[in-house]
Amino acid sequence: MEIQQNASLKGLNTFGVNARADYLTEIHNHDDIEALLEWKVQHDLPFLLLGGGSNLLFKNDYKGLVARVCLEGKDIAAEDDNKVYVSAAGGENWHNFVRWTVENGYAGLENLSLIPGTVGAAPIQNIGAYGVELADHFHSLQAVNLETSEVLEFDLEHCQFAYRDSFFKSHTLDKLLITSVTFALPKKAEWKIDYAGVREVLEGKEPTAQSISDAIVALRQSKLPDPATIGNAGSFFKNPVLAVEKWEDLKVNNPDIPGWKQPDGQIKTSAAWLIDQCGWKGYRKGDAGVSQKHALVLVNYGNASGVELWQVAEDIIDKVEGQFGIELEAEPRVIG
Ligand code: EPU
Repeated sequence: MEIQQNASLKGLNTFGVNARADYLTEIHNHDDIEALLEWKVQHDLPFLLLGGGSNLLFKNDYKGLVARVCLEGKDIAAEDDNKVYVSAAGGENWHNFVRWTVENGYAGLENLSLIPGTVGAAPIQNIGAYGVELADHFHSLQAVNLETSEVLEFDLEHCQFAYRDSFFKSHTLDKLLITSVTFALPKKAEWKIDYAGVREVLEGKEPTAQSISDAIVALRQSKLPDPATIGNAGSFFKNPVLAVEKWEDLKVNNPDIPGWKQPDGQIKTSAAWLIDQCGWKGYRKGDAGVSQKHALVLVNYGNASGVELWQVAEDIIDKVEGQFGIELEAEPRVIG
């Protein structure tokens, strides 16, 4: 395991924030994991596990070791009458993995096309888009406990998946290294094309894993800024879930407020809509701002620092709270 000192993290976070890490390493194989376990015993320093860097904001330089998970490999693990079980290592690029399943003729993950990040990070926030979330097709994952060196297996129930949340996000950040994830994909596909915009982009084409994946890619490219062109971490806030009474109060003065009833009876509303109503879309101060394409996406136009981006986030939280009495919650991990 090679360790770089005073390393730039600019290319390792999709916000493109120019933070530095005191130490940086890459985990490519089992020997690297062993070396990492040893390093952690010998050094009493902060420690951070990094996937694709697409769901975090470095507010400051990192005064410890950042370990980037680069484990590779994917395969068809098993098959039964109804399902195909496909596995991928934690460091695999999520979108490449989805395309691989699609190209092999397997359905289930197509609505999750083009989500940035790695396979190992995907369960942590239970990634979701266009009416599907990871939990819908998750089977199990393997992880190494970096405090005890135990190898663990988690099934669906253990993961406690919820909207952009999991057992890992609440309890095990930087403690468990997710080495591989297995998905159970249905042999008889059920297409999800009712989310706004999907049917329109399909333009009457027969729904297949391939055609839906292509449609989702087109939809995301039209609606969301591309991190390769302009730094961002996707949605910066979670969509708030409100009690029915609160929702009905708001509806009186805001008849257009979007709302989706949840299984527990509460109403999920749109953070993008709330932010848009407060006039933030396209806002820019220095190099930090809010996307012109989507009010939920904070953007770095070039050299914004993590502190400047976080300042925009805090200002948005204050304004939305003032206007609607709703406290927005950041969706990416804010570090430092
Ligand atoms: N809207 C606005 N202004 C905007 C954009 C959207 O008012 O600038 C309103 C519209 O009323 C629209 C509603 O917001 O109907 C919902 O917009 P969208 O369909 O884009 O979905 P979202 O709730 O903003 C969520 C996920 C996205 C995911 C999309 C599509 C969260 C936090 N975000 O966004 O996930 O791609 O649905 O399924 O749940 C991500 O997590 O990084 C991410 C991009």
